[in-house]
Amino acid sequence: MHDELSNAGPAAVSGTPSAGGAGPTVSPLRFAGYHQPIDRPAETEISEVGRGTPGGEYLRRFWHPIIMSSQIGERPQAIRILGEDLVIYRDLSGDIGLLHKHCAHRGASLEFGIIAEHGIRCCYHGWMFGNDGTILETPGEPASSPHKDKFCQGAYPTVEYKGLVFAYFGPQALTPAFPILDTMDMSDNDMVPYLIHSPCNWVQVSENSMDPFHVSFLHTRVAGAQFSEVFAELPLIAYHPSKHGFFYTNARRVGEFIWVRVHDHFPPNFSQNGAIFESVEKVRYFGRPGLTRWIVPVDDTNTLVIAWRHFNDRDDPHHQGKPENVGLEKTDFYGQSRHRSLEERQRSPGDYDAWTSQGPITSHAREHLATTDKGVAMLRTRLREEIRNLANGIEPPQWQPSAAGHVPTYAGDTILRIPHTSGDDTQLIRDVSQKIADAYIQTEHLPDEARRAEIAQRLASLNVGDVGVLNPAHGKVFEFRPIE
Ligand code: FES
Ligand SMILES: [Fe+2]
Repeated sequence: MHDELSNAGPAAVSGTPSAGGAGPTVSPLRFAGYHQPIDRPAETEISEVGRGTPGGEYLRRFWHPIIMSSQIGERPQAIRILGEDLVIYRDLSGDIGLLHKHCAHRGASLEFGIIAEHGIRCCYHGWMFGNDGTILETPGEPASSPHKDKFCQGAYPTVEYKGLVFAYFGPQALTPAFPILDTMDMSDNDMVPYLIHSPCNWVQVSENSMDPFHVSFLHTRVAGAQFSEVFAELPLIAYHPSKHGFFYTNARRVGEFIWVRVHDHFPPNFSQNGAIFESVEKVRYFGRPGLTRWIVPVDDTNTLVIAWRHFNDRDDPHHQGKPENVGLEKTDFYGQSRHRSLEERQRSPGDYDAWTSQGPITSHAREHLATTDKGVAMLRTRLREEIRNLANGIEPPQWQPSAAGHVPTYAGDTILRIPHTSGDDTQLIRDVSQKIADAYIQTEHLPDEARRAEIAQRLASLNVGDVGVLNPAHGKVFEFRPIE
C-alpha cells in the first residue's frame, strides 16, 4: 500500500481564489489535480502476455481455455491468444488443430486454408499441415525435396472438454497433464460454457474475483441489489492458502443463519465463486460454485472471460439461473458484458463496466490500495513471485489431482443455522468460518462424494435447533444510491 499524495512534492501552489482578493487558499488536498502524479507506465512484469516476456512465459506454463466448441464451424477461424495470431479448426475426422495463423511457406493466412481429413491445406501453394504442425505435403516441390522435413508450422496441443477447447502454449517438454477439477465433473449438474470479451488487460479482470468487498458496493449498495440483497452487508473475510493458490471465506450473519461463501483463486488466472443467485434460505453444506472461470489474455489490452455456468437444484433451488441466456458474449447474471446501453451501464454499472473503465492497462502507480484490497495485493504478490521464480529457473507449481483423481477446489456456499444469542457475534461468525475452512481443507484428499459427506457430517453438528426453518425476510435499507 502507498499514499500517492506523499509523493506529490512540495506544497501545492493552487487553491480557491478567495473573495476580496486575499489570494489563493493553498491546500494539498483541494483542487490539486495539477499536483497529482502523472500517469506512469503499467506494471509490465505481470501485465505483459507475449512470448518472451516474463509474464507471458509464466502464463505459458498452464492450460487455458481459448474458445467454445460451438464457435468452431466448418471454416477455419482466426483467433488471438496470449498475443499470438492463430487459426483453429476442426478437421474432417473431428480432431481440432490450433496452428499459427501465417503459413510457414510465405505467410498466407490459414484462415483461408482448406480443411482436410487430417489437417489443413494452405490456399496459396497448397502446402498441407498436420494438426501437430508437421508439413505433410509441399505439392509444388520436387518429390525428393527434403524441404518439408526441416521446419514446421507452429502448432499447440488442445483438449476439448465439455464444450470448451483448452490449449497449452508452453515448452513441449514441460507440458502438464490436463487438470480435471472436481467442479468439472459433478453429478446432477449442467455446465453451460460462455465467452465474453473485455477490452482491457487480463490482470484487472482477474483481480475482480480477489476483491470481495466490491460485491457489497458495486453489486448491492450503489444502485440496488443486482444479485441479492444479502450481499449488502460487508463480509468478514479470511484468506487461506490452498493446495493450488488461495481460497477465501466471506462470512455474514443473515437472520438466524451464518452464511460462509467461499471463493477459489488459483494463479495465474482461475477462479470460482459461490452460487450466483444466493438468497440464504436454508441450511446447506459445501454448496458448489455458480461458475468455473478462467481469465484468458487475448493480448496485453484484450481479455476473454471463458467459463462454465453451473446449473443444479441444490445451489439454485428457485431456478433463477437461465441456461438459455449463457453463451457467446452473454451470461445470465448482471453486468458481465458491453451489451447494455451506456445510460443503463451508468445507472447500474456491473463488473464489466468497473474493470474496463480502469483503462486498457490500469497503472498500479496511480492507485491507493486500502483495507479492502488485501486480496488484490496478495494476488499481485503471488503473480510476481511465480514470475520471478520462473525467470530464475523455478517452474510454477502445477495443479495436482488428489489420490482420488480430481483437483480439489473449495468454492461454494455453506449456510448453518446458528442464531445469535449473547456474546460477541462477530467472533462467533469468524470461528464458524474457520471451522468451515478447516473442514474443506482437511477433506481435500477424499473422493468427491466422500468429501461432501464428510464435510456435511462435520458441519451438521454446528447447527443449533431445527435446520429446516426458512429465514425471515432480510429487508434492509442502505442509503448509498448516487444515481437514481
Ligand atoms: S504461403 Fe502457404 S503454401 Fe505458400
Ligand atoms: Fe462482481
